[in-house]
Amino acid sequence: MSNPTREQLERWDRELVWHAFTQMQEYEPLIFTAAHGCTLVDIDGREYLDAVSSLWCNVHGHRHPRLDAAVREQLDRVAHTTSLGASNPTTICLAERLVRLAPPGLGHVFFSDDGATAVEVALKMAFQYWRQRSGPRAEKNCFIALSDAYHGDTIGSVSVGGVERFHAMFEPLLFETLRAPAPNMYRRPAGVSREQALEWYLARLEALLAAEHRRVAAVIVEPLMQAAAGMLAHPAGYLRGVRELTRKYDVLLVADEVAVGFGRTGRMFACEHEGVSPDFLCLAKGLTGGYLPMAATLATDEIWRAFLGTAAESKAFYHGHTYGGNPLAAAVALASLDVFDEEQTLAQLPAKIARLSEHLARIVPQAHVGDVRQCGLMVGIELVQDRETGEPYPWSQQRGLAACRHAREHGVFARPLGNVVVVLPPLAISLDELDRICLAIEAGIVAATTR
Ligand SMILES: Cc1ncc(COP(=O)(O)O)c(C=O)c1O
Repeated sequence: MSNPTREQLERWDRELVWHAFTQMQEYEPLIFTAAHGCTLVDIDGREYLDAVSSLWCNVHGHRHPRLDAAVREQLDRVAHTTSLGASNPTTICLAERLVRLAPPGLGHVFFSDDGATAVEVALKMAFQYWRQRSGPRAEKNCFIALSDAYHGDTIGSVSVGGVERFHAMFEPLLFETLRAPAPNMYRRPAGVSREQALEWYLARLEALLAAEHRRVAAVIVEPLMQAAAGMLAHPAGYLRGVRELTRKYDVLLVADEVAVGFGRTGRMFACEHEGVSPDFLCLAKGLTGGYLPMAATLATDEIWRAFLGTAAESKAFYHGHTYGGNPLAAAVALASLDVFDEEQTLAQLPAKIARLSEHLARIVPQAHVGDVRQCGLMVGIELVQDRETGEPYPWSQQRGLAACRHAREHGVFARPLGNVVVVLPPLAISLDELDRICLAIEAGIVAATTR
């Protein structure tokens, strides 16, 4: 590569690179050139704590020696082999490891490359399963998802998504999805108390299942925390309730742990908090420690068996991605799981989660903080115009963005979800770094809500 000047890089970044979820007319380049631990370094050498884990995927910090070495060692063997009718030892070992780690019953792993594709795979497998199992139920060809759900940006995952701002535009392209209300504890329906909410939301889902279960292939949920909806925390017991209802009405359960998986909630998988084994488990983001794109959809024996037969029976799962199961990504995923063991990553979390809670307790009473939601190391702080009524700030005022921009001046890189300020640091974050992140975020919130 020739040595482009800083000006060239900024111009090309503004004019040639089309950034995700970014208004390019207003984009101001922020170019990271290096990183170490939980710190990102920009083109001017300025350092920022990575308060969003490089979009919710970094786990053990950047440039972890163990993870770096795993990629290098795999490079000396082979960078890529296809998973279409062939394999490699690293990917095979990762499948074995994931099956051992996942909630019981999920014995088979289909690899793809991103969270959205992990979800696409689960939806298509569920659809095909009902057609091919003994005693087929071909009429089961639609899905139930929650309002405000986010499962990725491909057409299938958008079809089960429900974030108005992201998804409404694409409505004409989408397949039909039935919608149950997300168990939102902050904006509950009138007359429903916090204590009644769990029962109320499960009753809504049950009413939908009772009416529609004959044509429903699966219910899809983000266990415990609907991340992109603004870190919407579900009440305890909701996931277990959903599992019971899906069993009662003979409908499959897809758990999308793309955001919540790999320790974010304090346990390896969010489903563990409620002793739930889904029929499909979707993983991505933290799977490789945040190093390389890789996703996995785990499925049960019962699903797997419905796809077995001779070639002539044409029951195979006709779906694949060129880089699915890529060995470089598998190598770093295996190393990431080793680091979980070696550094006792999960055992260190309770102290970090508690420290985060202490900071949040200080932020809760702020004049324009409507709600603070925490699940493990995932936090959403919702800024509102009126704390009494919960009236939101108009989207156009971009208060969340203003808070994060201000935090950046204090050496913290964060990215909001509308008016929700997100804190989602790598699991490797130290207590001292957590303090610095929370103080910068707090200062950012004050600055953004008193202007
Ligand atoms: C719950 C959930 N599912 C799926 C996705 C999509 O993942 P990806 O961006 O890797 O396609 C995301 C991304 O944020 C997510 O939060």
